[in-house]
Amino acid sequence: MKLNINGQEREVDVALETPLLWVLRDHLGMTGTKFGCGVGVCGACTVHLDGRAVRSCVMPVVAVTSMEIRTIEGLDHLVQAAWIEERVPQCGYCQSGQLMAAAALLAEKPAPTDADIDASMTNLCRCATYQRIRRGIHHAAAHLAAAAPPPATTVPAGVPTVPAEPAPATSPAAGGR
Ligand code: FES
Ligand code: FES
Repeated sequence: MKLNINGQEREVDVALETPLLWVLRDHLGMTGTKFGCGVGVCGACTVHLDGRAVRSCVMPVVAVTSMEIRTIEGLDHLVQAAWIEERVPQCGYCQSGQLMAAAALLAEKPAPTDADIDASMTNLCRCATYQRIRRGIHHAAAHLAAAAPPPATTVPAGVPTVPAEPAPATSPAAGGR
């Protein structure tokens, strides 16, 4: 079957119910996505499906053949720079899943509150880097706000606008008289 992974078409010959995580790691050698619990709890295996964070260990590959799959190998997001600046990882094992979850959160909420982060970031970290993860997300949100284009200028209500200049009169065609 064909899969769209990180913008590239990949072909795999696997049973339909094979979990996407197995396909990524064992069949395609994409080991940036990690195996933790295998039952959809820890989030180490998080990837994006059509932009949403999903746990790939419990996702049958047949369910994603028409979706855009993005893995940590294909993530290009300001959150990665923020993670380095805040020195978020400790052992690092959970962090590819954390980054995928954080990028999906920021796509949905570019300026999340602590409550938004706590509600959305359900990935587990055995090193308990949760406070640094939170700081990293706020740091990335600040990067995103700085990188955003300025809002379009609008004319406040009641301010007269300058009328458009009248179009110049057309000169009579040569020999028109
Ligand atoms: S390995 Fe998928 S949620 Fe833990
Ligand atoms: S950094 Fe070690 S498990 Fe999260």
